[in-house]
Amino acid sequence: MAPGPGGLLAGSTDRTSPAGEGWPGGVGLTGQGDPRRYPRRVATLPVPSPAHRVLGIETSCDETAAAVVDGGSVIVSSVVSSQIDLHARYGGVVPELAGRAHVELLTPVLAEALEAAGSDASGTGIDAIAVTCGPGLIGSLLVGVAEAKALSLAWGVPFVGVNHLEAHLFASLLEQPDLGWPLVVLLVSGGHTLLVEVSAPGRYRLLGGTVDDAAGEAFDKVARFLGLGYPGGPAIDAIAGEGDPEAFAFPRAFLDEGYDFSFSGLKTAVVTTVRRQPGADTADVAASFRRAVVDVLVAKARRAAADVGARALCLAGGVAANSLLRARVEEACAEDGIGAFLPSRALCTDNAAMVAAAGWWRLGHGGPSDLSLGVDPNLRLVPTV
Ligand code: KG4
Ligand code: ZN
Repeated sequence: MAPGPGGLLAGSTDRTSPAGEGWPGGVGLTGQGDPRRYPRRVATLPVPSPAHRVLGIETSCDETAAAVVDGGSVIVSSVVSSQIDLHARYGGVVPELAGRAHVELLTPVLAEALEAAGSDASGTGIDAIAVTCGPGLIGSLLVGVAEAKALSLAWGVPFVGVNHLEAHLFASLLEQPDLGWPLVVLLVSGGHTLLVEVSAPGRYRLLGGTVDDAAGEAFDKVARFLGLGYPGGPAIDAIAGEGDPEAFAFPRAFLDEGYDFSFSGLKTAVVTTVRRQPGADTADVAASFRRAVVDVLVAKARRAAADVGARALCLAGGVAANSLLRARVEEACAEDGIGAFLPSRALCTDNAAMVAAAGWWRLGHGGPSDLSLGVDPNLRLVPTV
């Protein structure tokens, strides 16, 4: 694949680098910005090698994470500090609080990840740094990107900006690098609901997305309405196990049409039902809601996999931790004779190992970022096929 300027990082600055220095297409933290502002420190990687050790940094939302990954696939260390307790009392992520918490947490999280990987504050053994530069909360993204640039300069190693959505796609490959192509990935998180055909790493075709709420957002909003706390996905998943999924007939939007999703009507239906029947059993409501979401996700992902002739169906993103979704995807794939890949829960939710893996791949297919790299809260996964 030959991504255009900036590759998938639409909206980011041009990351081209002089040819012939290290990685294919040239490498180098070559001070391509104003040389008076950035001392010209040349940091090149000799040859793209599976052994390269990448430090990943993730601060796009409410998880402060750092990880060290070898050769794009071996997790040497991974530390995730969740801010759930900080935001729980507000029923959702408060952007200003998240940004400030990243500032406080990033240094200790990095120290822990480096130490666990046998490294230290001087970055011993680290060949490159990968950092999420979008999409996400602008103040939170800035914390990670500023840190990555500072470490890149201090350690004299290249850094690369990574699209958080692409990182989620790479999470699957961390646990199972030989999944076979093409794949269909259902990426369902708090901010995104995407069905993506992946014909090879870096070759994506967007099949569909949500027209309103993301799947995780629907879980969070319904949980908040039901008084189940934050984050809502795990809370609903837990209580739904005790309820009757057929107690309420909630809508399944666009079930048999196309690949787009809509969850806002379902959320309204839950609210209206509970207001009309204040005595409704919360477990029954949660179970019926979960079933409605999962029915739609599985039906579309399965149809997409059949339409593109996928060898396997993968889940990614926080909602991929949902127990009913996991069970139903496995069942559907077994029936359809294709592989099902369900990353471990730790890799479904936000983490820096997936950022390091995606960054490792990006370094080898486009080279590192320039120090002028900005953040893009609305960065999209740009189709490349
Ligand atoms: O990928 P992620 O950690 O962060 C984002 O990039 O958004 O996803 C977080 C989302 C939240 O909306 C959370 O409620 C949802 O994933 N989630 C779940 C479950 N665990 C986390 N949703 C449904 N069932 C779960 N078990
Ligand atoms: Zn995420």
